[in-house]
Amino acid sequence: MASPLINPSPTLNASERVKALIHRLHANSLAQEAELNKPDGELSKLKALNEQGAAGDANAQGDFQQQFDDLMRDKMIALEQDKALFVYHICRTISATRVVEAGTSFGLSTIYLALAVGQNAVKLDPEQRKAAKVIATEYEPSKIALARQHWQEAGDEVEPWIELREGDLRQTLASDLPAEIDFVLFDIWTPMVLPTLRLLESNLKKGAVIVADNVTSAADGYEDYHNYIETHRNAYRTLVLPYSGGLELTVYDP
Ligand SMILES: C[S@@+](CC[C@H](N)C(=O)[O-])C[C@H]1O[C@@H](n2cnc3c(N)ncnc32)[C@H](O)[C@@H]1O
Repeated sequence: MASPLINPSPTLNASERVKALIHRLHANSLAQEAELNKPDGELSKLKALNEQGAAGDANAQGDFQQQFDDLMRDKMIALEQDKALFVYHICRTISATRVVEAGTSFGLSTIYLALAVGQNAVKLDPEQRKAAKVIATEYEPSKIALARQHWQEAGDEVEPWIELREGDLRQTLASDLPAEIDFVLFDIWTPMVLPTLRLLESNLKKGAVIVADNVTSAADGYEDYHNYIETHRNAYRTLVLPYSGGLELTVYDP
């Protein structure tokens, strides 16, 4: 179940205008999710189809993936507000200025990340400040358009700190990464998580923080990622935090 909406983001350092935008987007996302997760809703029907696939019906499995993609095409599936606030505060605490977001959708979590990066960048000299950014990633054209619209509406506290890479992140993150990434947010379909980590790994700063959403509720999907972390214990320390669905905090410390 999604976390309830906290009004008005009491611990977020942002203008009232940006807070109002954030609040509106969280409310929209919660309403969409409630509709999606109704017992007789489309997602339940799809899950039933997926169970048939898991039982060995390959056609049903193929249909599931296609229908899941179609169903999610216009859905926000945004990070809940309590998790987004946590991510903002972690980024402020570690002074993150080179951030990668895997999965951007309508750009809501990106707003929190960009606020943190912009506020952290104040301490940098002008040359370093040019490199401060959130690299956002999204492949759905309609979501890209809405995300850009939301960042424009948020204005100078947010928009200048975002570089959106359009397309499949397995291609868009394959080159031109910051030499030292401070923070990564995984809020994406789970088959993308491990391939993305492998792309970013050699550019992670020692002490970089990685946050992954829904590691408990989507444990099956995270299996390959967790196996990887488990077999590289010398480089990663992890802790699952008791947010809805499980929010995992990992520190890269090779
Ligand atoms: C859970 S949503 C992200 C929500 C967003 N972080 C927020 O809180 O507002 C995941 C997004 O990842 C996108 N996505 C999934 N696979 C992708 C891929 N291979 N490349 C780029 N984007 C992808 C989906 O289109 C979807 O919009």
